[in-house]
Amino acid sequence: MLLVAIPNDPASLSALLANKGFIAAVEESEELLAYAAGNITLLDAAVRRRITGEPLAWITGRVSFCGVDIRVDPDVYVPRWLSEPLARRAVERLPETGTAIDLCTGSGAIAKVLRAHRPGARVVACDVDPRAVACTAANGAEVYQGDLFDPLPRDLEGRVDVVVAVVPYVPTPELPLLQRDTFTFETTLSYDGGADGTHFLRRVVGDSPRFLRPGGALLLELGGHQAELLAHELTRAGYAAPTVLTDEDRDVRGIEATLGH
Ligand SMILES: C[S@@+](CC[C@H](N)C(=O)[O-])C[C@H]1O[C@@H](n2cnc3c(N)ncnc32)[C@H](O)[C@@H]1O
Repeated sequence: MLLVAIPNDPASLSALLANKGFIAAVEESEELLAYAAGNITLLDAAVRRRITGEPLAWITGRVSFCGVDIRVDPDVYVPRWLSEPLARRAVERLPETGTAIDLCTGSGAIAKVLRAHRPGARVVACDVDPRAVACTAANGAEVYQGDLFDPLPRDLEGRVDVVVAVVPYVPTPELPLLQRDTFTFETTLSYDGGADGTHFLRRVVGDSPRFLRPGGALLLELGGHQAELLAHELTRAGYAAPTVLTDEDRDVRGIEATLGH
C-alpha cells in the first residue's frame, strides 16, 4: 500500500514510477498527468492503480496505435507496439476500396488503423469475447462476436483482400514466462495458443482461403519457430511461400502469405 502523497509534477512522478520499476516512467507519468488534467484526486487514484500493475490503457481508457487513438476498455487486450508493423503491412496490402478482416480484434485497434488509412474500404472485425466486441464497436468498427471466422457475413466469402490476425499464440508451457502482472489482470484467452502456440494459427491458415480472393493476403503475428511449423499447412491451403516478417533484432514477428491464383 502506498501511503505517500502522489506528486503532480512530471519529474517527481516519473521518479516515483521509476522507483517502482516502470521502464517507461517518463512517458507514463506524462500520460497519467495528461489524463488527470490537473485533477489531483483523479491523478492520485490513477497512479495508485498503475502501481498495482494494472495496464495503463485500462486506467486512461486510451492508447495510441500506429498514431491512431484507440479506446481500450478494462479487461480488453491492450494493443502492443510490436503489432504495429503488421498493421502497417495490412494497410499496404489493402486496396482503397478493398475488403479486410481483422480476426481476434481485441479493442479493434488494427481494424481502426485500416479504416483510418483506407476510408473507402470495408473492414470487418471479430472476437470471441463480448467485452472486446463492445470496445471494438465503440471504436467504430463493423464487428461480430464468435469463434474466428464463424460469425462473419457469408457475402465476404471469396472477396476479401486482406485477413490480418493477432491470435493467441503463446505456447501453453511458456505462459508462466509472461510479464509478472499479465495474469493478475488479464486472462489466458488472449495468449494461450495451445501446446506449441499454433492451435489458432493453424485454424486461421486452414479457414482463410474460403474468405480471401485469389491474390489476397494473410498476415499473421507469430514468433519463434512457428513460421516453420505452419509451412506445410500454408502450402496445403494454397498459399505461395510466405515472407517471414522480422524486427530490427531479426526476431521473427509474423508471416505474410499470398493466396495462389
Ligand atoms: C492477443 S489478443 C489480440 C487483440 C488485437 N488483435 C490486438 O492486437 O490488439 C487476442 C484476441 O483474440 C481473442 N480470441 C481468443 N480466442 C478467440 C477465438 N476462438 N475467436 C475469436 N477471437 C478469439 C481474445 O479475446 C483477444 O481479444
